[in-house]
Amino acid sequence: RKGKTPEEVVKKYLQKVKSPPEEDCTICMEPLGGPSGYKGPGVGPVSRAESVGQLAQCGHQYHFQCLVAMYNNGNKDGSLQCPTCKTIYGVKTGNQPAGKMEYHVIPHSLPGHPDCKSIRVIYNIPPGLQGPEHPSPGKPFTARGFPRHCYLPDSERGRKVLRLLLVAWDRRLIFSVGTSSTTGESDTVIWNEVHHKTEFGSNLTGHGFPDPGHLDNVLEELRAQGITEEVDGEV
Ligand code: APR
Ligand code: ZN
Repeated sequence: RKGKTPEEVVKKYLQKVKSPPEEDCTICMEPLGGPSGYKGPGVGPVSRAESVGQLAQCGHQYHFQCLVAMYNNGNKDGSLQCPTCKTIYGVKTGNQPAGKMEYHVIPHSLPGHPDCKSIRVIYNIPPGLQGPEHPSPGKPFTARGFPRHCYLPDSERGRKVLRLLLVAWDRRLIFSVGTSSTTGESDTVIWNEVHHKTEFGSNLTGHGFPDPGHLDNVLEELRAQGITEEVDGEV
């Protein structure tokens, strides 16, 4: 099956705009009434009627070519995220390298969750070579501190977070390749935008328990990646 071209992907999420407002496109900072300021490779001509579009769900407007350029700069997974309000169109995926995610219940309670056992999630990612979706394709990446052990309470809410983390893993959104803000090392596997608790009985790093807001925070971070248990259309 032939994949969609970047133009086709962007069009799928856009509605036509009859007369562009007197505002600037927030991608290129040029007026929506004029041409896109983007002059990169692969920018083809576009008809006047199609030069500005409105994202179907959130309504934010951009130059068509600016959205195509933005899409081309990402990992081209068929999804698009509004740069203004972060609404996700399609299914967002990331560039997490290959590896393994496992979990099991351990018969001990976490600080702050005295009434249930705990879930240990174990991530293991070996070092490897960066692909085209990574910052330096062809260059090696390192992987420090693996296997990384993480903890959740084995409560209803904790199990919900686990289910969503499994989806995030499949969509390659738990880790990324980049520069570690902790160690400063570049071209290494780093946590992506979803926080994990890596300490069990203590909280020396700030990534331990108790933390009453943790599960809510993680659910919000997962939602920001487009991962929820709601079916499409529900609020
Ligand atoms: N445990 C959980 N989350 C962490 C940790 C940690 N020990 N250290 C940082 N984070 C969070 C940060 O708060 C930030 O949101 O991960 C995000 C990315 O931080 P980086 O420092 O760039 O990530 P990374 O290099 O992957 O993590 C550093 O985490 O698990 C350990 O062995 C790993 O010591 C390393 C540390
Ligand atoms: Zn623009």
